[in-house]
Amino acid sequence: MYRFVTSLRSSKDHFSRSGRRCFARVPERATSFSDNEETSVLPVMPRFDYAPPAYTGPKADEIARKRKEFLSPSMFCFYKKPLNIVHGRMQYLFDENGRRYLDGFGGIATVNCGHCHPDVVQAIVNQTVNIQHSTILYLNHAVADFAEALASKMPGDLKVVFFTNSGTEANELAMMISRLYTGCQDIISLRNAYHGNAAGTMGATAMCNWKFNVVQSGVHHTQNPDPYRGAFESDGEKYAKDVEDLIQFGTSGQVAGFIFEAIQGVGGIVELAPNYMPNVYSTIKKAGGLVIADEVQCGFARTGSNFWGFQNHDIVPDIVTMAKGIGNGIPLGAVVTTPEIAKVLTRRNYFNTFGGNPVSTAAGLAVLKVIEREKLQENAHVVGTYLKERLIALKDKHDIIGDVRGRGLLLGVELVTDRELKTPANAQVLEVMDSMKDLGVLVGKGGFYGNVFRITPPLCFNKQDAGAFESDGEKYAKDVEDLIQFGTSGQVAGFIFEAIQGVGGIVELAPNYMPNVYSTIKKAGGLVIADEVQCGFARTGSNFWGFQNHDIVPDIVTMAKGIGNGIPLGAVVTTPEIAKVLTRRNYFNTFGGNPVSTAAGLAVLKVIEREKLQENAHVVGTYLKERLIALKDKHDIIGDVRGRGLLLGVELVTDRELKTPANAQVLEVMDSMKDLGVLVGKGGFYGNVFRITPPLCFNKQDADFLVDAMDYSMSKL
Ligand SMILES: Cc1ncc(COP(=O)(O)O)c(C=O)c1O
Repeated sequence: MYRFVTSLRSSKDHFSRSGRRCFARVPERATSFSDNEETSVLPVMPRFDYAPPAYTGPKADEIARKRKEFLSPSMFCFYKKPLNIVHGRMQYLFDENGRRYLDGFGGIATVNCGHCHPDVVQAIVNQTVNIQHSTILYLNHAVADFAEALASKMPGDLKVVFFTNSGTEANELAMMISRLYTGCQDIISLRNAYHGNAAGTMGATAMCNWKFNVVQSGVHHTQNPDPYRGAFESDGEKYAKDVEDLIQFGTSGQVAGFIFEAIQGVGGIVELAPNYMPNVYSTIKKAGGLVIADEVQCGFARTGSNFWGFQNHDIVPDIVTMAKGIGNGIPLGAVVTTPEIAKVLTRRNYFNTFGGNPVSTAAGLAVLKVIEREKLQENAHVVGTYLKERLIALKDKHDIIGDVRGRGLLLGVELVTDRELKTPANAQVLEVMDSMKDLGVLVGKGGFYGNVFRITPPLCFNKQDAGAFESDGEKYAKDVEDLIQFGTSGQVAGFIFEAIQGVGGIVELAPNYMPNVYSTIKKAGGLVIADEVQCGFARTGSNFWGFQNHDIVPDIVTMAKGIGNGIPLGAVVTTPEIAKVLTRRNYFNTFGGNPVSTAAGLAVLKVIEREKLQENAHVVGTYLKERLIALKDKHDIIGDVRGRGLLLGVELVTDRELKTPANAQVLEVMDSMKDLGVLVGKGGFYGNVFRITPPLCFNKQDADFLVDAMDYSMSKL
């Protein structure tokens, strides 16, 4: 947030009034402004140096009139005054007046590469001028090339692709294939799921507001493993038991399949409880069924941590369906399965006129290349994690936020008027959406009650878009500038920092702090020293070194601790030019470079690589942090949960407002946890922060045990 000290009237003058604007135009006066104009908090949209072409087409009113007269009355629009969107570029949309909007919905999780991404557009144009449609009755390389590329993104034996034109069609086909392959009819889907709206898929969709009163046979709906609203909270195994019961008491004991979204999209970005899918997977296998992953919303790198959503659940499905992000907006869907299962379709003719259309598949291939080259999966992970953290922080400020959830750039914020009762605040969602639109930000909504913001932007979304505004980090960085100006000659030797302060109590540096400090130090002629003693060697999970989470490259990096897995060893790494200064005198260290220590160091690097410990620190650390954050709702004594990877901190306070350190309670909980068999550290200036920095081979069960022990110990306080 940028705190304007000028009046709104004058701030408005910063923005161009021409029809072709590069910047967002600020509304006359948004409802969320405070009454005090001098201190109003006004979000500022990040710069985007692009001017859309002037629009001369029909205006909103005329389109709305035509739509009312000639299009289905079932079609609805967002916003009291619907937007006429006429142009798009990357993560931005433009209306008929050239006003720019930050697109936080991405055409419903579809425009993954960014609006009108030049590579995708070019692929479409190139293909269109050659041959636009021929059907798969003739050979054409576009469909074959894309099928090959898509299959290469799949694990296991998932190598055969059928193209369709939508997610609904893909799921219809997947359900039919599973019925044919197993000879069974019964399919199980989750309550609150959305899988499409044709005859079969409407049966699998399980929200009454999306189900028409027509025949929808052969689908059973199991309890939704919804950690926020579900009966068993985050206990995936208990929900999984319902699938077992359903098969035993509601079917012949054999089923055709189980269809699921790794994160429910239309249902309101609902993550499946941990441990649910592996249990359900084995239940379905025992009942002879196939597992179908509906990746229509989760696929194509959206969840950040993996390319496919199901990969976050440690299973490999038998059939994967996809659409939305597959073609960045071009109508396309697909079903991928194994060669053996795919054979069932040879029993009759199976044909789809537009399926595998060369223009659509050329777009699909371009999408895969863009995701790869522009590292959109990594970006979805980094920006999504950052955005989620900022949204979680908002929860402390606004009681109306009941839950923040999701993964990567598939995030949900559920509004409730009462946190205890979880009363859906759907009217407020509409109000906030409208107000955000006035400020230039578009988000979606969903959930059974319509009370969940769905944040599914193009995957090129960046941290400025996520924060959208000046972050506190920039203000802190200003202090370094002042310090140099008023406390030194104006030149400094250097700046030393921990990417996450360890002994200080796992304190993360505010977003945007380091890039700003970096340039300040450079201007003052100094070197930037990253002290990686605690953060290095894969501990933060997202990167091997902590400084890499701050988008800077330091001049000197220091390390110890994790370098030798416990053997006494430390190191300083710098550039050849800087290193030369030590040749001015003798520099010697008796044990520095000791062969035993350095042999251990080399072994450590190999183990981290081979055992994928960085990945594990990320996966288990993210899971552990989420569980610790959930504990915060239960125990008022938890003031803050923070950190990254397996470098986590839990700060205890006796009063959340005053942040009074609860150091005695930390000792008590530590002792009680020890009695239960769990050891954690403590730190922070006041000694009131648990430091959770286990070996990086820690697994999810270990994480569960730690959280359960902490929960139990805190309950006794
Ligand atoms: C998870 C999921 N599956 C299937 C579908 C249906 O896709 P389509 O609208 O392309 O038919 C959707 C649409 O939102 C979806 O979110």
